[in-house]
Amino acid sequence: MTATSKCPINHGTIPVLDDDPFAPEVLEDPIPFQTRLREAGPVAYLSKYNAYAIGGYDEMSAAVSDWQGLSSGSGVGLNEPWRARGLLQMDPPEHDAPREVLQEILSARVLRSMKDNCVDRARTLIDELLEGTEPGGQVEVDAHKQIGAVFPVNFFPDASGIDETDRENLVPYADHIFNSLGPRNELVKQGECRAAELQEWALSKCQRENLKPEGFGADIWAAADRGEILHEHAPLLTRSLLSAGVDTTVYGISGVLYAMGANPEQWDKLKANPGMARVAFDESLRWHSPVQQIFRKATRDIEIGGVVIPAESRVLLCFQSANHDPRRWDNPLKFDLDRDPSGHLAFGMGMHQCVGQHAARLQAATLLEELLERVDKIELVAPVGRHHNNVLRGIDSVPLRFTLKK
Ligand code: HEM
Repeated sequence: MTATSKCPINHGTIPVLDDDPFAPEVLEDPIPFQTRLREAGPVAYLSKYNAYAIGGYDEMSAAVSDWQGLSSGSGVGLNEPWRARGLLQMDPPEHDAPREVLQEILSARVLRSMKDNCVDRARTLIDELLEGTEPGGQVEVDAHKQIGAVFPVNFFPDASGIDETDRENLVPYADHIFNSLGPRNELVKQGECRAAELQEWALSKCQRENLKPEGFGADIWAAADRGEILHEHAPLLTRSLLSAGVDTTVYGISGVLYAMGANPEQWDKLKANPGMARVAFDESLRWHSPVQQIFRKATRDIEIGGVVIPAESRVLLCFQSANHDPRRWDNPLKFDLDRDPSGHLAFGMGMHQCVGQHAARLQAATLLEELLERVDKIELVAPVGRHHNNVLRGIDSVPLRFTLKK
């Protein structure tokens, strides 16, 4: 039971929640906690962690964009970072040059040039899945295990020039990185036994001599040779492709297929207007945000919604909660292709806004477009299975039935 009272340490102005946002039951279904957080006020104090939390859309938009007041430079977890900091954990001026380089390498223009390759690979995957099913027939697939957890684990590392060996390490590697941004709970402890090994493995993949001559990784090293970034930043930037770019996209793709299966009438809308695949993906990110929450640290006393968060406090930014704020979105828990999802915070906002968003959209929209060619109807046939992670809205299975077009 959640006790809500006034915070004793902040002039009695900030409501206190005794919820644990990282407890298994909250990770299983975070919506009740996120609703309490928004309803508590613009900012709440999380007594269990001596931290603050923000969940309303307006307050989150202001907070996420305020990189001077809410810094990422001392980590985006509850505790200080345990590994060398990547792009997400840098503040300007250190952040500027690496961000510019990565933004250019992962620009919409560059990603558009990869569309044909993405289409070929998506078609191959879908063809394999549907092989043996007659037109008009039905086939059951696990859209997470057979699509979401397969496609980005191959397409994106290939585009990055990472060699093919040990790719099964990618998801557990990033799973632990994201878990370790939360408290040292069971999820973190379970990951610790392989953390050093996986960390070493990922960094070695990102060394110049281990990268293929063409790919995002080689482009990063070339930028270092041109003097645009420090050479010591090149492996860390390449590593951020792996730590930030794989699990997030896995859950994004599994999430949009879950959204379609749970709302078959929305698939009908998409069939009637296939050009909306990217918008459908964005609406699914609003509805089911892969990155739910991340911390920042207050560099000074910060005023949000009329209340003050003291300097040096850790502040939990709840992207998913903001994306469900009824003051911003009508009927927010409905996945609805009639809505304009622009302005959602699933990719963040401001200076740290996701630099890989075009890569994620390319992969998800291409998969949807390929499915639209072949699949008439999508239905969820059993409840979605959850994978708990302290930051990510993880998925373990999405059991779907596809009815093929005649
Ligand atoms: C659906 C997929 C994805 C989601 C939901 C997502 C979400 C996010 C969010 C919410 C942030 C901002 C965090 C903050 O403000 O503190 C972010 C930043 C970032 N993302 Fe993504 N991301 C996705 C895919 C990717 C991909 C494919 C890459 C590949 C490079 C990537 C790389 C990054 C990096 C490097 C940052 C830090 C940017 C900076 O600090 O300047 N992400 N992402």
